[in-house]
Amino acid sequence: MIIRKASDVTPAVLEAMAATPDPRLRAVMDAFVRHMHAFVDEIKPTDKEFDRAIEFLNGIGQATNAKHNEAILFADAFGISTLVCLIDHARQGRSGTDVALLGPFWRLNQPKTANGGSIVRCDTPGEPLFVNGTVVDLQGAPLAGAEVDVWHASPGGMYEVQDPGQIEMNLRGKFATDAQGRFAFRTVKPAGYPIPTHGPTGDLLRAQRREPMRPAHIHFLIHKPGLRTLITQVFVADDPRLERDVVFGVTGDLVGDYRAHEGGAPAPDVKGRWHSLDHRFVMEPGESVLPHPPIA
Ligand code: BEZ
Ligand code: FE
Repeated sequence: MIIRKASDVTPAVLEAMAATPDPRLRAVMDAFVRHMHAFVDEIKPTDKEFDRAIEFLNGIGQATNAKHNEAILFADAFGISTLVCLIDHARQGRSGTDVALLGPFWRLNQPKTANGGSIVRCDTPGEPLFVNGTVVDLQGAPLAGAEVDVWHASPGGMYEVQDPGQIEMNLRGKFATDAQGRFAFRTVKPAGYPIPTHGPTGDLLRAQRREPMRPAHIHFLIHKPGLRTLITQVFVADDPRLERDVVFGVTGDLVGDYRAHEGGAPAPDVKGRWHSLDHRFVMEPGESVLPHPPIA
């Protein structure tokens, strides 16, 4: 079709794609083109703005490497990851523990760690935290043999992959629940931290005068065949940024019962203040697929 005016373009593209055999791809690309064309029509970009947009998209790819996933970061910072996560969860009818975005820092093959073991693998700031988790099904029955991945940033403000001062796999572990569905580990109480801002997502956040901070949390990914993989985060209640997480990850009922204690710690080397977190995770029936790891 020869294009004679702007309003000819959208129908021409839709028609060109109409014979796509895969019905899902056909529906997705049809919606993508309609929405993108409507977006362009609404903002009416100049050539210079279009150049800037292309440069931005290329920058997302260029900033991505084995240790950093700028595309996920962008999707997170603009609420897309949370939207996908909540829509997908609602599709199955919500019943288990609330879900939260995976983020760009989960790694495959986190170190298997015995229950009660520590995930603090090198000198790390922060007060000791002892986590006791229980994994149950919708009826409250304990789930034995579930794999529980945990990971969090150092209170120094970075994940170990961002920080040459931390040893490989610091603050990461993989646990297996026992016959009562329990798992336990020692770590340090997490603190809020900034998401990486060296790429185009950071440039955009600065242009929007947005603070790049996440409230303190620990990530959990719980996997057991026959059950829907549970990806969630447990937040610290007194973090002042709970209501303004830069990635909109505080969803539903995910604030944990982190408690401070003085004395009587479960480990003899802990003398002063320490913390506990007891948390129950409820898994739903469903697909036990693992996500594609955002970093290597
Ligand atoms: C995280 O919690 O690890 C995270 C999530 C989104 C963007 C950056 C970091
Ligand atoms: Fe995190």
